[in-house]
Amino acid sequence: MPFEQIAIPDIVTPPGNPSAIIEIIDHANQRIDDYTKSAPSIIHNFVHCDFDLTALTIHWILENNLLTGERFCEWGSGFGVATMLATAAGMDAVGIEIEPILVKHSQQLAGELRIDSRFFCGSFIPHDVTDILEISRDVEHVTIEEDDAYQEIGQELSDFDLVFAFPWPGESDFFEAIFLECAATGACLLTYRGREGMHLIRKL
Ligand SMILES: C[S@@+](CC[C@H](N)C(=O)[O-])C[C@H]1O[C@@H](n2cnc3c(N)ncnc32)[C@H](O)[C@@H]1O
Repeated sequence: MPFEQIAIPDIVTPPGNPSAIIEIIDHANQRIDDYTKSAPSIIHNFVHCDFDLTALTIHWILENNLLTGERFCEWGSGFGVATMLATAAGMDAVGIEIEPILVKHSQQLAGELRIDSRFFCGSFIPHDVTDILEISRDVEHVTIEEDDAYQEIGQELSDFDLVFAFPWPGESDFFEAIFLECAATGACLLTYRGREGMHLIRKL
């Protein structure tokens, strides 16, 4: 197998500074609520993950020294909350999102919260993935056609130590295929899987 699965315990220790995390999550929930009530058109591919679980899991990964470095990338960052939680946990974090309006909201939210996360508009799929049409055949909720954002970021996918994503049900294999082809050996992919919780793999 080209990766190892890392088991995440059911109960993980809460972060040391819970008030900073609570502020991010409360503020983000309010903004997302405002947006969903007032947006002229809904972005169907956007649903958000469990932010509390994401904060706890990032903290647990760092506390257990599971990473080869501190670079974090969120694939399809929506309102950018996981990226901001990673920054608050001490990581150098960026989010990539295809929808310009969501990039704008995430930049605004980070500004309001004075969090130093960076957000980029474009695709998280590197331009040179092999057989992209074949591996994306059954994928409905990821935009395949747009240019990737890595050049603008100034980093390759292989520069990141932890990638986070919330794939739609049935689309996790696609995310893993991209990760396994393009990430560095030793890098980790954390995916939120709804009722199944978090899933963590490391590329071997
Ligand atoms: C299920 S949402 C997850 C949002 C965020 N990660 C969270 O958990 O709150 C998936 C996001 O991926 C974005 N997306 C879809 N295809 C993308 C692509 N190729 N590159 C970057 N973002 C993409 C969608 O616009 C959507 O905001």
